[in-house]
Amino acid sequence: MKKHILIVPGDGIGQEVTEVGRKVLEKIAARFGHEFTYDEALIGHAAIEATGNPLPEETLQKMKASDAVLFGAVGHPKYDNDPAAKVRPEQGLLKMRKELGLYANLRPIKLFDELLGASSIKPEILKGSDILFFRELTGDIYFGEKGRKNDGDTAYDLAEYSRFEVERIARKAFEAARTRRKKLCSVDKANVLETSRLWREVVQKIAPEYPDVEVEHQFVDAAAMMLIKDPRRFDVVVTANLFGDILTDEASQIAGSMGMLASASVGDSTGVYEPIHGSAHDITGKGIANPLASVLSAALLLDISFGLKEESQTIIDAVDSLLKDGFRTRDIADGSTPAEKILNTEAAGNELLRRI
Ligand code: IPM
Ligand code: MN
Repeated sequence: MKKHILIVPGDGIGQEVTEVGRKVLEKIAARFGHEFTYDEALIGHAAIEATGNPLPEETLQKMKASDAVLFGAVGHPKYDNDPAAKVRPEQGLLKMRKELGLYANLRPIKLFDELLGASSIKPEILKGSDILFFRELTGDIYFGEKGRKNDGDTAYDLAEYSRFEVERIARKAFEAARTRRKKLCSVDKANVLETSRLWREVVQKIAPEYPDVEVEHQFVDAAAMMLIKDPRRFDVVVTANLFGDILTDEASQIAGSMGMLASASVGDSTGVYEPIHGSAHDITGKGIANPLASVLSAALLLDISFGLKEESQTIIDAVDSLLKDGFRTRDIADGSTPAEKILNTEAAGNELLRRI
């Protein structure tokens, strides 16, 4: 298979982890006889420094012209405590989602058995957890009108959803539930928010078209509690942009570490695959970041954008085997991990390449 992949490392550890993701893709291509070509492009703080724009037009064009994008992370601490900054790295990410129509963000929360002890949640509560989040990604309070009034003393962010936007993400979630344990939990705040009442109405309206899927509705506060109390009760979860952002960070603890979680953003154009973790400037440049989320993002890329199931599974098996052999990056190591089993970013990559 011939495919063109754009690598967009972004900021911080994005650079280090996508390097490993790319090597893994190269190795897969060599082993399975595919011809993948690569290009790179800038986004986020790196793009602001180079061009003044967090999503340069050139990057956007390259994304549209590629078969898939392997993405790193965006962000820089210098903006975090500067609420007045007009240009921010995150604007590049949000504009990319909007411009590419990436309305469905899939975040699989899958716990590798070997990492049962890495979570702060009790192993007996976690064991067997396997949740697939569908986070809506191009609407909600993220993209509504925002601003200041009363001489800047009052601020507002408008949350907006259309029937069409809710229906297309809900259908994706229903279809995914069909291929899994056939349970869908729709999360909203319909006791308070009008957008959530529309959300619930739309999900209820299309539910009869999927009679094989058992649907439940939960309020987001209760869902946040239930995720920790009994994560195994969830199969597919569908929710709005902001709730999905928050719940998936929470759910990352079910998988042991943010460093393990991959995501796929798909919709109208090229699919984008990225870790759910951020740019992590506290460990940037030290070579110790966990590259497994980027590698697992590459696995999602092969599966979802290219339909290469066996190749994708080969990567997941390599990650599993590395963990079974006792290897850990720092974020998933614990007191019982012997020093010689603790891997830096590059060494983790090499262990994976050997296994592929
Ligand atoms: C994510 C991130 C982004 C988001 C930030 C960086 C804008 O937290 O992808 O989850 O809030 O969507
Ligand atoms: Mn987030």
